[in-house]
Amino acid sequence: MNLLVIGSGGREHALCWALGASPLVNKLVCAPGNVGIGQIAKLAPVDPLDFDGVLKLCRDEHIDFVVVGPEVPLVAGLVDHLEAAGFACFGPTKAAAQLEGSKGFVKDLATKYGIPTGAYGRFKDKASSAAYIRQQGAPIVVKADGLAAGKGVTVAMTLDEALAANAALFTEAGAEVVIEEFLEGEEVSYFALVDGKHILPLAAAQDHKRVGDGDIGPNTGGMGTYSPVPALSPALERAIVDTIIQPTVDAMVAEGMPFKGVLFAGIMLTKSGPKLYEYNVRFGDPECQVLMLRLKSDLLPALMASRDGVLKDFDLRWKDEAALCVVMAGEGYPGEPRKGTRIEGLDAAAAEADTIVFHAGTKAGANGEILANGGRVLGVCGLGKTIGAAQARAYAAVDKIRWPEGFCRRDIGWRAIAREQQ
Ligand code: AMP
Ligand code: GLY
Repeated sequence: MNLLVIGSGGREHALCWALGASPLVNKLVCAPGNVGIGQIAKLAPVDPLDFDGVLKLCRDEHIDFVVVGPEVPLVAGLVDHLEAAGFACFGPTKAAAQLEGSKGFVKDLATKYGIPTGAYGRFKDKASSAAYIRQQGAPIVVKADGLAAGKGVTVAMTLDEALAANAALFTEAGAEVVIEEFLEGEEVSYFALVDGKHILPLAAAQDHKRVGDGDIGPNTGGMGTYSPVPALSPALERAIVDTIIQPTVDAMVAEGMPFKGVLFAGIMLTKSGPKLYEYNVRFGDPECQVLMLRLKSDLLPALMASRDGVLKDFDLRWKDEAALCVVMAGEGYPGEPRKGTRIEGLDAAAAEADTIVFHAGTKAGANGEILANGGRVLGVCGLGKTIGAAQARAYAAVDKIRWPEGFCRRDIGWRAIAREQQ
């Protein structure tokens, strides 16, 4: 088969790494990709939002199956466009991608179908949302109602902070906000493949969203992950599937927009059980990296079964080991990152046992050297018998990388490792 992966991040490098190992694949193309992906796939310089350009690429490369990595082209309707032209795709339609594209849509759906989530209000004007914030009190969560690359959410501990975040969101014309109850507990990213009707639970991961050690500082797209998540007992996992994931899949059928693809639920493990705080309609980044490291089975047939509506009774096997990913980012991230700085030592890092380095924001320099070209630049991953062992592997590889203008957190996995040591 000829396969096309859309995207250019660490998630897509991990997907290409997993899919490229499938015996079903003859040719692997990635658009637009990055330096690391270019070592295992053919790169095509096509913008994922140039739908006709992607379609032409599918025709030129005789593509049999397309895997769309990021949310932006999904929410914009890339899958609808390619499917209408006869190309099979993994991922949701534009209508079903509203689960990520509109936070208000998800809250309304959850309420209508009794899916556990926090209390909320949706507003189109600043005065009404400010009044609601005052009425509810702090802590409270203020969210822009659209895609914001992880930056449209303020978890406000005080009323002043909430009102300031609310005012900031209304500086743009046509703004809509969702004001949501603050949910207290441990966060889990839960992943399931969906074929419209049936689900195939994958695994859970935990992300570290804050930029600094000890989970402090501004939110980022994710500074590191690990999987499995020891905080998630089999009973809690069942509760997530039975009370949140399956009811959502059923609700999407009832609403006439069945969901296919990977459903990524942001779950808070609260004292009164798991509650949904958001959906994403794609693999997480860097959650995907640790899931792919742990997956034993061929990923491709499962993605095809999702698209073809035949996931029922499908099975995937997972390694007994834990995986952990440390993100290395460019100085300045999550603000404006410094770009064009030189990264060395990647071969030495990759030569460490049980490690792999996924590229995200990298580009090749004039002499083939590897340069930083984004905020999150590398995902350095380790595999081990425990999360502590996986962490030791990942940081041993990090320490082989010479990139003075890069930084990473030094405590990825701390909650789980503390649990392991109890
Ligand atoms: P999001 O951009 O929706 O992933 O949200 C960013 C982060 O905000 C999440 O990872 C959570 O840590 C936090 N968050 C979102 N919604 C809530 C909520 N209702 N209560 C507490 N924290 C939240
Ligand atoms: N790591 C969080 C996300 O992919 O949204």
